[in-house]
Amino acid sequence: DGKYTVTLIEGDGIGPEISQSVKDIFAAAKAPIKWEPVDVTPILKDGRTAIPDDAIQSVRKNLVALKGPLATPIGKGHVSLNLTLRRTFNLFANVRPCKSIAGYKTPYDNVDIVLIRENTEGEYSGIEHVVVDGVVQSIKLITREASERVLKFAFQYAESINRNKVRAVHKATIMKMSDGLFLNTARNISKDYPKIEFDAELLDNTCLKIVTDPAPYNDKVLVMPNLYGDILSDMCAGLIGGLGLTPSGNIGDECSIFEAVHGSAPDIAGKGLANPTALLLSSIMMLQHMGLFEHADRIQKAIFEVLAEGKTITGDLGGKAKTNEYAEAVMKKLH
Ligand code: IPM
Ligand code: MN
Repeated sequence: DGKYTVTLIEGDGIGPEISQSVKDIFAAAKAPIKWEPVDVTPILKDGRTAIPDDAIQSVRKNLVALKGPLATPIGKGHVSLNLTLRRTFNLFANVRPCKSIAGYKTPYDNVDIVLIRENTEGEYSGIEHVVVDGVVQSIKLITREASERVLKFAFQYAESINRNKVRAVHKATIMKMSDGLFLNTARNISKDYPKIEFDAELLDNTCLKIVTDPAPYNDKVLVMPNLYGDILSDMCAGLIGGLGLTPSGNIGDECSIFEAVHGSAPDIAGKGLANPTALLLSSIMMLQHMGLFEHADRIQKAIFEVLAEGKTITGDLGGKAKTNEYAEAVMKKLH
């Protein structure tokens, strides 16, 4: 029926509410997407947290998924399902754009940062052990292979969005071997992209400079190991109005999963207070990834109009609108 089937993982906490907004707006926009909802409540397989087979099959078949936030309990014995999904489908590049919303005032104007986070290893490798009581080790694993593929992706992504600068963010002064390998790999890969200017910056310095003046970052693509990308992407979200506004795409060679940068926000779950914009913008990245540019543009314009007017916005942005009221305002703006 000319429809594209997409796996839908609604997620925990505010996940179902913000997923509902996406479904409603997509239906109103007549976006040709057929949702295939799957349950990812973890099962235990060989003593480890695992994703149910049905969900895995669905993503493998559809190649594209939209995902709400999944809660991860802190502490022993819990493997993050979010990370398990990224690793299961080898989603090695996490693309996190962070762009100012016209009309929504923050101390920073015209932010337009594109951050690419290595998504499968680094401090997120999940290799931890107790050496002796009171002494633990968490291994930061960096491989040339995973570094190469995310760096290549970053250069190609820069080309695709017409940015001619790639900057690696690292801490190779201290993490001499792991970040050193990442940085050297970046230098080598950069030789294959002579039209793109490459440089590198220390993470702490990047943080200082971005919060001082983000403008010089608007012509670059930043690429970095996993944990740095996690932290820096939240920091960048803070420049434009918070995590209610920042989307992401977890991209692999085969499958891709689009999700908001934020978590499941259990404190406001079920109250209709959540801002669905981040998941909506993720779903727009998804439409673009699928080549459905017209639908992506239409929905995006409607979202930006509602945000620019500032009348029907959610509490995180200083408004009073409920999740569904905001979604309805977006639907009214669809032309
Ligand atoms: C993110 C989140 C995840 C991460 C959590 C939920 C595992 O914070 O997508 O940035 O740390 O990567
Ligand atoms: Mn994070």
